[in-house]
Amino acid sequence: MVSEFELKEELPTTREFIELRAAVGWGTVSEDTARRTLTGALYTVCLRKGGALHGLGRVVGDGVLYFYVSDVIVSPAAAGGGFGLRILDSLKTYVQSVASPGATVALLSVPGREPFYEKAGFVRCPNEIVGSGLCLLDYLVPAPEGADSPRRP
Ligand SMILES: CC(C)(COP(=O)(O)OP(=O)(O)OC[C@H]1O[C@@H](n2cnc3c(N)ncnc32)[C@H](O)[C@@H]1OP(=O)(O)O)[C@@H](O)C(=O)NCCC(=O)NCCS
Repeated sequence: MVSEFELKEELPTTREFIELRAAVGWGTVSEDTARRTLTGALYTVCLRKGGALHGLGRVVGDGVLYFYVSDVIVSPAAAGGGFGLRILDSLKTYVQSVASPGATVALLSVPGREPFYEKAGFVRCPNEIVGSGLCLLDYLVPAPEGADSPRRP
């Protein structure tokens, strides 16, 4: 039987999380960091085929007013099939089910990936409502070899 891609709400294992991020060039984090960030998220979806992890998307935040979209990844083997947008749809459906009026839903795109997020309804900043996004410089400095790598969107 040919197995199909399946998207569902669940946590990946720490090992899967580390390996999928590493596979798209985001470096590695420790098992402890992976466990803590995974259990700290509000909502996580996994894309699987035959049990293997091929995609991921997460929302972190306070669950009512502030939401940050992170770790949106589709493996090279599954890329181009619309799964990235399906992942974003499920994250948006989750946010819509819990966000209060006035909530902020934000993310930081990898340079050049903005058009992907625009297709899902995100808009670039600055715009007429909000200014530019800002990051604390200290956490943009690459980590030393062998240490936890800097975070990615
Ligand atoms: C970016 C990523 C999640 C897209 O996943 P995907 O499943 O290939 O995306 P989809 O098939 O749902 O593409 C949806 C649309 O976005 C567009 N798109 C996808 N990747 C894009 C990119 N890198 N730049 C511009 N547009 C892109 C597609 O062309 C498609 O448009 P169309 O409907 O007009 O054809 C995937 O390529 C990935 O994981 N890349 C590495 C990790 C990464 O950069 N994640 C984003 C962090 S900011």
